[in-house]
Amino acid sequence: MNAPTPAIGQPVSRVDGPAKVTGTARYAGEFAPDGLAYAAVVTSTIPKGRIRRIDTTAAETIPGVLAVVSHLNAPSLPYHEMEKRPQVDPKSGDQLQVFQGPDILFNGQPVAAVVAQTQEIADAAASCIGIAYEEAEARTVFDPGRGREPSEETAKGGRPGASGRGDADGALAGAAVTVDAAYVQAREHHNAIEPHVTIASWEGDRLTLYDKTQWVQNVVDEIAHVFGMDKEKIRVISPFVGGAFGSALRTWPHVTIAAIAARMAGRPVRVELSRRQLYNAVGYRPHTEQRVRLGADRDGKLTAIVQEAAAQVATYEEYAETTLQPAETTYSCPNVRTAYRLVEMDVNSPCPMRGPGIVTGLYALEAAMDELAFELGMDPVELRLRNHADTNEKTGQPWSSKELRTCYETGAERFGWANRIPEPRSMRVGTELVGYGMATAIYHADRGAAEMQATVFANGTAVIRSAASDMGPGTYTSITQIAADALGLPVDAVRFELGDSDLPTAPVHGGSITLASVGTAASAACEALRDKLDRLPAKGGSIAETLRANSLDRLDAKGKAAPGEETKTHASSAFGAVFVEVRVDEGLGAVRVKRMVGAYDVGRVVNPKIARSQCIGGMMGGIGMALMEQAEWDERFGKVMNANLAEYLVPVCADTPDLDVVFVPGEDTIFNPLGAKGLAEIAICGVAPAITSAVFHATGRRIRHIPIMAERVIG
Ligand code: MOS
Repeated sequence: MNAPTPAIGQPVSRVDGPAKVTGTARYAGEFAPDGLAYAAVVTSTIPKGRIRRIDTTAAETIPGVLAVVSHLNAPSLPYHEMEKRPQVDPKSGDQLQVFQGPDILFNGQPVAAVVAQTQEIADAAASCIGIAYEEAEARTVFDPGRGREPSEETAKGGRPGASGRGDADGALAGAAVTVDAAYVQAREHHNAIEPHVTIASWEGDRLTLYDKTQWVQNVVDEIAHVFGMDKEKIRVISPFVGGAFGSALRTWPHVTIAAIAARMAGRPVRVELSRRQLYNAVGYRPHTEQRVRLGADRDGKLTAIVQEAAAQVATYEEYAETTLQPAETTYSCPNVRTAYRLVEMDVNSPCPMRGPGIVTGLYALEAAMDELAFELGMDPVELRLRNHADTNEKTGQPWSSKELRTCYETGAERFGWANRIPEPRSMRVGTELVGYGMATAIYHADRGAAEMQATVFANGTAVIRSAASDMGPGTYTSITQIAADALGLPVDAVRFELGDSDLPTAPVHGGSITLASVGTAASAACEALRDKLDRLPAKGGSIAETLRANSLDRLDAKGKAAPGEETKTHASSAFGAVFVEVRVDEGLGAVRVKRMVGAYDVGRVVNPKIARSQCIGGMMGGIGMALMEQAEWDERFGKVMNANLAEYLVPVCADTPDLDVVFVPGEDTIFNPLGAKGLAEIAICGVAPAITSAVFHATGRRIRHIPIMAERVIG
């Protein structure tokens, strides 16, 4: 048999690229079941209180309106508690129950929906609904002093709490050099290009949902609990996702609204959230305030890290982040204390957003490390090297692989870090100040249990199937490459079907776990298939010939993969080092990123082209976080005032400089047989502090509030 060149490691172009660019890829909102009707969601205009009266008469008389749904006529839903909460849901509290009562918990809460023949009629009718409220005093101000006290008791399992090792406060008091600084990270929104859309269609007591989601099988599970339905009766379809960044990890209220509306209208209903509604109807990265205290000896060896964070949270759910994990794992330090608290506000629930928690905590930690380097008069890279964590000091485990030193070296070399003149304000080009900054990136590598079915056909093609998602990172392509190699077939002979809850089990498409989870299951399935082929009585040169020699049209096998003993013996993580040059025009307050180099240790790279694409996307997200992205919060109304893409700034190509991505060699075969650690989140980690440190280097001013917008540079 002529084995093709191995596909793994090749810069294969996206296998779903042609479908996307020709418009034949079908996204959730593009399905068109017969008799489709359209819903418009009406949302509350006060942050707290209750509905006194809803007047729907005007809306109901508009021709083409099929139903108006609110708590006055919606079915009472059981909202059963799940036996085990999915890891994407908050650990405690109750999810928002739609149309189950008059209470208002935040501004922008869905309170009614209009179903009509067309979207235009639904929108017009929605604007005719009159609602009278009884307002209550709302907590719309972020007051860190009011946060719930952290305790050792609650620190486990993503709850607010305290953690650490040694005697951090004692060590801090005795440290030769200290840093004590407070940092603010603004509330940020995912703003994927594709809005959230759900189409619900009932056939008798069976429900089909076409939904933008990062986890089709979890939508089944959650909707089954909300409606008290048998899971077997729900199917969720989501073959393409137009970006999500965490906003589609969990199942939001509009999915329930679509199902209620479709039942009440007696026909399929499509609910698409407007761009404005996306700022309340799904989650966001919570506003977080932190204080970091570092202690070190004169040689720069860390003796103490104390990092405290307070993050906003809704009143009805407890969404907590792993914000303070980097304080415990990034550097070697005998004395660490962290305290994480949540500040309840009358807001919608936050949720994971790219690099959730870690990126926020790392921002403050790395910004403080830059301050420490300055206090010590030490090169920032040298300070990191002196505090390199040879093991995960939180768990005591060795790393399954770690090439971070190579990341620092390679990144610094490609960037030309040696040309940095340490003194702030010492580098200029024309009227602009030049600043160089760097930071460490770290994001834990995880896997989830996954299954794959693989089928080969007598025409020489193969199909692999799993209920995975691809929100844009290239999952269709990379896992097709893995299967192609495992079967000894060319990439274009293999097709990957995903995004359907009826397919074999896949874990959430988040936390950078998909490749290592679903990819490993793909190898397992294809190896099982090859074993079956080997055991067939008649032999042929190729798979197709073997099948034909045995008079078979097709042959199937299943494979599965799950994390194992390695999670007990080793800690696994992706690592990186980010280097940034900024240009600052002090007169205008303008900060531009001139260039960025990211050097990453992500284990084996399955597809360097797509991996680079992932990284430049993450780097751009980091530019937004550092310089542009911020929900403008009006405390009077408890409302985001720039809930649109004209006023909420996200980086576009004009904001994006030369982004240089390099993957340092390394394979992590302890973590999984593929040797790949997963990518995605690592690429946003460290970008914001590298930029803020570069702004300090350029200007000599510490701006400890991100995003660093012009008014903060001038102010
Ligand atoms: Mo990512 S925030 O796990 O979608």
